[in-house]
Amino acid sequence: MSAVEIPAGLKELLQGYTVEVLRRRPPNLVEFAVQHFTRVLESQKKEQRLKKRNSKPARKGVTFQTSSNTPNKDDEEEEEEEEEDTSTTGKYSRRVSVCAEAYNPDDDEDDDTEPRVVHPKTDEQRRRLQDACRDILLFKTLEQEQFSEVLDAMFEVLVKPQEHIIDQGDDGDNFYVIEKGVYDIFVQKDGASVCVGKYDNKGSFGELALMYNTPRAATIVATQDGALWGLDRATFHRLIVKNNAKKRRMYEAFIECVPLLKSLELSERMKIVDVLGARAFKDEERIITQTKAGQQDNTEVEVARCSRGQYFGELALVTNKPRAASVYAVGETKCLVIDIQAFERLLGPCMDIMKRNISQYEDQLVALFGTSDDLKH
Ligand code: CMP
Repeated sequence: MSAVEIPAGLKELLQGYTVEVLRRRPPNLVEFAVQHFTRVLESQKKEQRLKKRNSKPARKGVTFQTSSNTPNKDDEEEEEEEEEDTSTTGKYSRRVSVCAEAYNPDDDEDDDTEPRVVHPKTDEQRRRLQDACRDILLFKTLEQEQFSEVLDAMFEVLVKPQEHIIDQGDDGDNFYVIEKGVYDIFVQKDGASVCVGKYDNKGSFGELALMYNTPRAATIVATQDGALWGLDRATFHRLIVKNNAKKRRMYEAFIECVPLLKSLELSERMKIVDVLGARAFKDEERIITQTKAGQQDNTEVEVARCSRGQYFGELALVTNKPRAASVYAVGETKCLVIDIQAFERLLGPCMDIMKRNISQYEDQLVALFGTSDDLKH
């Protein structure tokens, strides 16, 4: 009897599906299979389109493409499929100008087939962009070269009060970094739109739909005139999502042995890895600054020392109060950092453990000063 021939690629396809199921634990496996394989098919088609385009004669140099240019037929088709809003008078004037570096097979050392998106900027714009991106956690683990590519691809978006930057349920188009402005976050709960938080002149949003290929999980509305920097979905994928795979490999083992996170599912821990950033501090560098009035006078007293696998900085987030203590690096240190929105979204299940541990801070103060008033709320 002849052996059954397994079609090429079947094993990889099924493995890919299995890994996604284990990562995301969808409630309905069949529905998830339809979504998963539709995505696979779409990326296969996109790859074929890119191959077709790349097989055309290579153009040297760079091509500026503005909305007033008349694109050729092939480009037009691609643009329509990749991004709907190409108008400069549209909601966010997203596409002011796009400069895609022409593909040259001679330069193609790696297998990156995506064209590089470059939005030209003035020196002043680039300086403002760099300032806005300085503390963005998702960029903190990028190599310098990848970070410059991200900056090149970002484009300025000016917004007006009450403007919806993102609507819950939509497909994800861009990731946004805030340069200025206050933005409310609304999430649908029991059919009503509930304001669950805000971004106040810093931070970023819009990464979830792009990372996990899911609909937008919240609505983001500007409350005043604001300025944002957008990063298109394709570049976000090519640089940030790719880097996240590396981040998972790097921090997986470490995250597994953080006691606080033990009660989470593996997939939940991986979501934390996806959004965290790494920050290095020099000996004696201040990591957190106390903003709450001190106990007695202004002298600082060491109340505790944290080491590998422990955490700090949660008290002000849990209690919504000013920072109750300053934290300094002892020797060269490296911390993994998570922002408040992700903290609230992802660490809810650990909240009880954190609250329980907060009582230990009172014990430390009682031991030192004989009072715990400063922590009472
Ligand atoms: P995304 O789902 O792409 O679009 C909406 C964004 O709102 C989401 O990514 C997050 O970046 C951000 N966001 C902030 N707070 C929340 C929240 N509580 N739930 C979901 N998304 C949130």
